[in-house]
Amino acid sequence: MALIAPSLLSADFSRIGEAVRLAEEAGADLIHVDIMDGHFVPNLTLGPQLVAAVRKETRLPIDVHLMVENPRAFVPLFHEAGADWISLHVEATAHLHKDLSLIRSLGRRAGAALNPATPIGALEEVLGQLDYVLIMSVNPGWGGQSFIPSCRDKIRRLRDRIRAAGLTVPIEVDGGVKLDNAGDIIRDGCGIVVAGSAVYDAPDPAAAIRTLKDIARKAI
Ligand code: DX5
Ligand code: ZN
Repeated sequence: MALIAPSLLSADFSRIGEAVRLAEEAGADLIHVDIMDGHFVPNLTLGPQLVAAVRKETRLPIDVHLMVENPRAFVPLFHEAGADWISLHVEATAHLHKDLSLIRSLGRRAGAALNPATPIGALEEVLGQLDYVLIMSVNPGWGGQSFIPSCRDKIRRLRDRIRAAGLTVPIEVDGGVKLDNAGDIIRDGCGIVVAGSAVYDAPDPAAAIRTLKDIARKAI
């Protein structure tokens, strides 16, 4: 069954602990934290101190999505802060193999993230080194954007490529996932659903998480 990963980017930052506890109580599987540096993407968000604060609020795995240049330099900081899963963008590093090895050597799950325009072939030589792949289905930088429809075919092609390689690497889909498209995206091959505005902009965020869990259960 697909995992549900609420993204704190759309939460109320003045009540972040409450947003995390609510997600855990509603049945979320991971807490997704978006790190932006103002260079790789034109926005700034959070850092290791916030991850350390979230760590104190939950026993759920923390899924750190690094949207930063020179991601390798930040991996140890997020590891120390308590991140469990760490993904970095293939567009941001010339040494993907080395960076994934670093994350794994620290005992964390290593993910590679692809922007919408980056072909899945960019992962060909590291498929066996991945604990998950993050497919961006919006151009990274902000929450609340619309899902890019062509990403559905990209998810299906990646799922087929992973299967053909005899692997079971889960695909995380991030950006524009809502209650009304999550089922289709899961059936395309998404194993980890990131949802920011669909959860935290909803009138009842816990109910939105429970609905996403239900969609995941029925989409098998
Ligand atoms: C966007 C971030 C996403 C963001 C998704 O750059 O990587 O994780 O929180 O937000 P929604 O679900 O609102 O598109
Ligand atoms: Zn993200």
